[in-house]
Amino acid sequence: MNLSMKDKILQRFLSAKGEPISGQQLADELGISRTAIWKHLQTLQEEGYEFVTIKKKGYRLVEVPDRVDAAKISSFLNTKRFGHAIHYFEEIDSTQSVAQQLARQGAEDGTVIIAEEQTGGKGRMQRTWHSAKGKGIWMTIIVRPNIPPHQAPQLTLVAAVSVVLAMKSLYKNFMPVIKWPNDILINGKKCAGILTEMLAEMDRVEGLLIGIGINTNHELDDFPEDIQSIATSIAIEEKQKVDRAQLVAEILKNLEYYTDEYVAHGFKSIKKLWEEHSGTIGKRIKATTIREIIEGQAVGITDEGVLEILLDDGQVKKVYSADIEIQNE
Ligand code: BTN
Repeated sequence: MNLSMKDKILQRFLSAKGEPISGQQLADELGISRTAIWKHLQTLQEEGYEFVTIKKKGYRLVEVPDRVDAAKISSFLNTKRFGHAIHYFEEIDSTQSVAQQLARQGAEDGTVIIAEEQTGGKGRMQRTWHSAKGKGIWMTIIVRPNIPPHQAPQLTLVAAVSVVLAMKSLYKNFMPVIKWPNDILINGKKCAGILTEMLAEMDRVEGLLIGIGINTNHELDDFPEDIQSIATSIAIEEKQKVDRAQLVAEILKNLEYYTDEYVAHGFKSIKKLWEEHSGTIGKRIKATTIREIIEGQAVGITDEGVLEILLDDGQVKKVYSADIEIQNE
């Protein structure tokens, strides 16, 4: 894992779970001086971490701020590649833009860009994505699967499955579902969205930038008024605040596993999982595409991740990109 020295120190304290660690022991383990350790602890204190000195025992971490920094995510992480490089920002325009630059510079598979706040968060269809400070998970993962460009939309569905399964494994008070192609809804309201951008040559994906936005610890009035009736957060539905870093680590674990599974064995098993967690299939929907409005029953997705809609006249129409409204709810 490419952690900075400061993050290595922090990770050591996080895994000590409140037990004291001596400055000398840390200095020896990390091969730096005690003064250097002390300076890093000062910086961590400025970031909101609080340490107390225990006589003859060293330092004890007593307060952990609510941040999604590299050390905190790493303390939950159990992956082979994903999240081993994490670029953390207090504030950024969009994690997608940074990911784009890093991907062009050769950032490795599974590199994560994450921010507390985005000032220019991007949604699908040129929309803006509201990214309140310290409330959500605003992250982009650079994924480099060996697949041709036309298969890229399937990987977006892999991401949706990974997010929904992470939520299901950590929280018990609600049931998230996927709205095609990759919105996550809870009780009919949007909790998360995924935006995938691609760097590609004619026949080969160079990198996918999987941008995941999750409304996590928002209360209702943290959302702008115009989306309060259609948006929700995990905290609202779970009825308590949750640890954002833990959820990030769980998503990275799933995304690595299901991406590898998909690259090795194809879309079949992912498609099955996607359909199992879909809140769209079987429902009457209205799909607004750039060209037309299509109404009918969503009957399934194809092996390319394309949505199939059964029209009232019996025709089945394929939809590649659209805004979906679920009608019989
Ligand atoms: C959607 O419209 O549903 C997709 C929303 C995607 C938002 C995420 S937040 C992290 C990443 N950075 C962005 O600017 N957008 C994506």
